[in-house]
Amino acid sequence: MADLNAGSVVAARNAADVVTTKMTARNVNVYYGAKQALKDVSIDVSQENVTAFIGPSGCGKSTFLRCMNRMNDTVASARVEGEIKLDGEDIYKGGMDVVQLRARVGMVFQKPNPFPKSIYDNVAYGPRIHGLAATKADMDAIVEGSLRRAGLWDEAKDRLGESGTAMSGGQQQRLCIARAIAVDPEVILMDEPCSALDPIATAKIEELIDELRGRYAIVIVTHNMQQAARVSQKTAFFHLGTMVEYGDTSMIFTNPSEPRTKDYITGRYG
Ligand SMILES: Nc1ncnc2c1ncn2[C@@H]1O[C@H](COP(=O)(O)OP(=O)(O)OP(=O)(O)O)[C@@H](O)[C@H]1O
Ligand SMILES: [Mg+2]
Repeated sequence: MADLNAGSVVAARNAADVVTTKMTARNVNVYYGAKQALKDVSIDVSQENVTAFIGPSGCGKSTFLRCMNRMNDTVASARVEGEIKLDGEDIYKGGMDVVQLRARVGMVFQKPNPFPKSIYDNVAYGPRIHGLAATKADMDAIVEGSLRRAGLWDEAKDRLGESGTAMSGGQQQRLCIARAIAVDPEVILMDEPCSALDPIATAKIEELIDELRGRYAIVIVTHNMQQAARVSQKTAFFHLGTMVEYGDTSMIFTNPSEPRTKDYITGRYG
């Protein structure tokens, strides 16, 4: 009895640290034609933490990220084996609605890629396709709310009719984040979202990621070690198609278990 009480006190004290698994991958192998790009990758991604994927160029970070919302379906030569689940549901099962999946698991790319449409229509695009707004007022509210959450409302509110492509690179990237948010996703995948941005625009995206943390499960691929250390709580290190090490970001960057991780974070290769 005493033990049980002690246990519940510990549980209560750690309540803030409780993490919910949002996505799981088990033994994922990916091939492009005959060439294997990912080998036996298994990972749990939590709702509460930002997860960073790091590793040298060509190690499979983007390949794995694209598996998580079936973007690899669009690559003719790609073959994915293994199991990836979202809230326990196999996203590769027959009959899975892939359009719906990509709304639930949104993606932000390296190069900001707003549609050649107005700022308003960029954000309204997804909600329109998915029938999320019954009236113009509903759509206005979704657009405003998404731009606000993406930290872009003040800069965008007086130019909603202007083309999204006329914004600065950093603004375009926040517009792409607003577009992903607009369909109320559960997971946001970001593939080097700041690599085309200057340090100030980068800092804004990093702040934004921190604000969005917890509301969405976030996975970010980055080549910038400082960025991984700043924005993520969990880090996975990839090398030559395998996931070498996965753990708390603070541990990975201060005391990694694997020599290959250590070599990478100390800049011995990259
Ligand atoms: N569409 C494709 N067709 C054939 N091979 C591909 C394709 N995309 C990626 N690859 C190969 O798969 C491997 C992993 O590539 P991937 O783009 O996932 O690496 P990455 O870790 O994201 O690299 P980077 O840091 O340069 O973005 C590489 O050998 C790459 O050449
Ligand atoms: Mg990549």
